[in-house]
Amino acid sequence: MNTLKVVCTSDIHGTLIDYGKFPKGDVLVIAGDISPINDDHKIFRQEAWFRNSFAPWLRKAPFKYKIVIGGNHDYYLHSRPSKELQDILGEGCFYLRDEILELEGKTFLGIPWCSNLPRWAFNMDEEVLDEHLQKLKIAHDLSNKKIDLLILHAGPKIGGLGKSLDLKAATINPETGLYIIEAPEYGNEALAKFIYDTKPKYCCSGHVHSAERSGVHINGGKTSCYCVSYLDENYRPNPRYKFLTLDL
Ligand SMILES: [Fe+2]
Repeated sequence: MNTLKVVCTSDIHGTLIDYGKFPKGDVLVIAGDISPINDDHKIFRQEAWFRNSFAPWLRKAPFKYKIVIGGNHDYYLHSRPSKELQDILGEGCFYLRDEILELEGKTFLGIPWCSNLPRWAFNMDEEVLDEHLQKLKIAHDLSNKKIDLLILHAGPKIGGLGKSLDLKAATINPETGLYIIEAPEYGNEALAKFIYDTKPKYCCSGHVHSAERSGVHINGGKTSCYCVSYLDENYRPNPRYKFLTLDL
């Protein structure tokens, strides 16, 4: 079976990356938070940008296939059915909202949801998200189907995948009086449970821009997970943030 080289990123927040910056690959994955941050999150502005700027840029991106999911900043994507967005993106581009895509024998599943972010796009209460993921497992028969790449927006609560590693803060341990330097944890428990249950080969996520990028290996080494945010905590491209390339 052919190998598919997959280049993963997320959290571009309106940045239409120069094509020359991408490593070579067959598939480009963008794991949510595509919309500009300077648009007041107005749906009509996000729609105009998606139709007139993002979709043409994505269509011309030098990859055979391009896969996109939404994130909590993407109110326009949240407000529209997949089919409509898929039609705007056009040939070679795929929009996944809880949907599975098979490409050359490889299986992709895209899940855009976050939890406990009231008034944001693609938000559910944690318990509702947990139930939703259980239903997805059944709907997609994930007990019998192997996912090669699980594409999430929110970082699961596994290792440092949901931690702001570049925003470590000092607190004082009340018992010892000593400082503790630690990164705030925003990892999602329902998504972590889903990964432990379904054991995808790879998982990429974003949302917490400075979460763990070097790989968290679980499920007895069967699953490797990575944060793939393009922008850093200051919403700027960061030379330390390399694109993740996977061979599927
Ligand atoms: Fe996000």
